Order: sequence, then structure tokens, then C-alpha cells
Amino acid sequence: MTPTHSSNGRSVSGRAALVTGAGSGIGRATALLLAAEGARVAAADCNLEAVESVAAEITAAGGEALACELDVCDDSQVRSVVAQTVEAYGALDILVNCAGIALPAAFGDEEAWDRTLDVNLKGSMRTIRAALPQLRASDAGRVVNIASTDAQVATPMMSAYTVSKHGVVGLTRALAVELADSGVTVNAVMPGPINTGMTAAIGEDDRRRFARRRVALRRYGEPGEVAQAILNLVLPASSYTQGACLRVDGGMLTVA
Ligand SMILES: NC(=O)c1ccc[n+]([C@@H]2O[C@H](COP(=O)([O-])OP(=O)(O)OC[C@H]3O[C@@H](n4cnc5c(N)ncnc54)[C@H](O)[C@@H]3O)[C@@H](O)[C@H]2O)c1
Repeated sequence: MTPTHSSNGRSVSGRAALVTGAGSGIGRATALLLAAEGARVAAADCNLEAVESVAAEITAAGGEALACELDVCDDSQVRSVVAQTVEAYGALDILVNCAGIALPAAFGDEEAWDRTLDVNLKGSMRTIRAALPQLRASDAGRVVNIASTDAQVATPMMSAYTVSKHGVVGLTRALAVELADSGVTVNAVMPGPINTGMTAAIGEDDRRRFARRRVALRRYGEPGEVAQAILNLVLPASSYTQGACLRVDGGMLTVA
């Protein structure tokens, strides 16, 4: 299927997008960037107040947005948010799965494993499953999942998170193949250390030390820098990028 759009598919203008985890960090930056580029954005998060403020910011800037309360672990809420998006915009072309948690826990802490896999991995499966009919109906359906450099390397006390992010890469590759004939692309980004709510508890000195030692660019990234990579993946013209896991890590995994 060749996308036929004004601007040769190099714009998301008029496309309908659903972004989960849009209340903070990478999801928030992605919702704001997609809206600034002309997409109509359903901003969904378990923190309703946070997405209401994101939607208000988009609307104040002249964009179109919808705030939705969503727990990605609750399938009925997932289906309802997809329905709300389609009711508001008549379509769903772009799904970005940013909802995520990182709970430090000892290996074998089954509660942490269940919770982490439920949000980070099964949450993405649920939103994709619910959105799939609409994504298939789009002339350029796009899914972006958020993995992590922890899908390639591991951090102590983060086994559940590491496993969940390896799973996100597996989900991305499996669907990229399974949906190959549908015109829907499924890709992932793998952020390195990014300044968001998730890393806020790490002290300034520890961040600096880590970045100097481990990151080629010697700094943490900003959420907008990840959002930019996501925007590139969801453009209608990005039609031959399938099953890719794009590192947005300041060269972290390149450092010897
Ligand atoms: N910040 C980093 O350094 C980093 C690095 C690699 C990957 N990531 C990934 O990026 C994604 C976004 O994280 P972030 O860094 O922006 O963190 P963040 O904490 O700033 O944002 C995560 C958002 O997800 C929401 N959320 C959590 N559980 C949810 C649920 N069950 N249903 C709906 N929403 C839920 C939170 O309310 C929050 O708004 C996550 O998948 C995370 O694992 C982050």
C-alpha cells in the first residue's frame, strides 16, 4: 500500500494519534510534538490531571487534543480509550505506547515481575490489539513501542524491567512480521538515560558520573529528543521501516 498524502507523507498533519503514558516524560513530549506537527492527539495516562494539562497546552497552542484516563492493565479501559479516539477523530492512524514503570526489585520478586510485565509488555499488547482494526483501516497505520537500552544490557535490581523491555523488542519484531501485509508498521525506540519522571530520583552527581562514564554524548537525553525519533517513525513516508529497534541513547551502547 503506497500512502497518498499531501506533502508526500512527510507530515503527520491531520493524522489521528493515541499516545499512552502521555502525562509525563517521553509520552508527554511525543503528544506535544505530534500535535505541534498537526496531528490530532488522544493523550492517555493513568494520571488524568497530567493529561488534562497536556491537552490544555496543545489546545492553547491551536492544536487538537483529547485527555483520556487510562490504565493499560485494564482491557476495558484500553478499548474505551480507542473508541473515544475514533469517535473524536474518525480514525486512529498512530499508536505510541509510552506508558511504563521501572520498579527496582530483587530477582524473584514475583509481584514486581507481574506488575512490570503487565504494564510495560502486556499493556502494549492490549493497546495494539484494541487499535488494530483502525490501524489496518488507515492507509499508513503506525505503531511505536518504547523499549530501552535495558533490552540489550542489564542493570542490577532491574531484572523485571530488563525482561519486560526484551519482551517489548520481541513483541515489536513478532508483530512487524505478523502484520507485514497490512500496511501497518511496528517499530520500537530504545532510549538511553533520559531526564523524565522515571529518572528524577537519581541525584544530579550520579547522573553526571554515569553520563561521563557510559554515554558517548556525556549527558542524559531530553524527552523531546526521543519524541523526534518517534515522529520520524510514524510519518506516512516512513513506510519501509518495519520491526526496527532504533537506539536513541546518546551513543551509550556504542561506548566500549
Ligand atoms: N527515562 C528513561 O531514562 C527511559 C529510558 C529507557 C526507556 N524508557 C521508557 O520510556 C517510557 C516512558 O517513560 P518516561 O521515562 O517518560 O517515564 P515517566 O515516569 O516520566 O512517564 C511514564 C508515564 O506512564 C504513566 N503510566 C504508568 N503506568 C501506567 C499505566 N498502568 N497505565 C497508563 N499510564 C501509566 C505514568 O503515569 C507516567 O505519566 C517507559 O516505557 C520507560 O520504560 C525511559
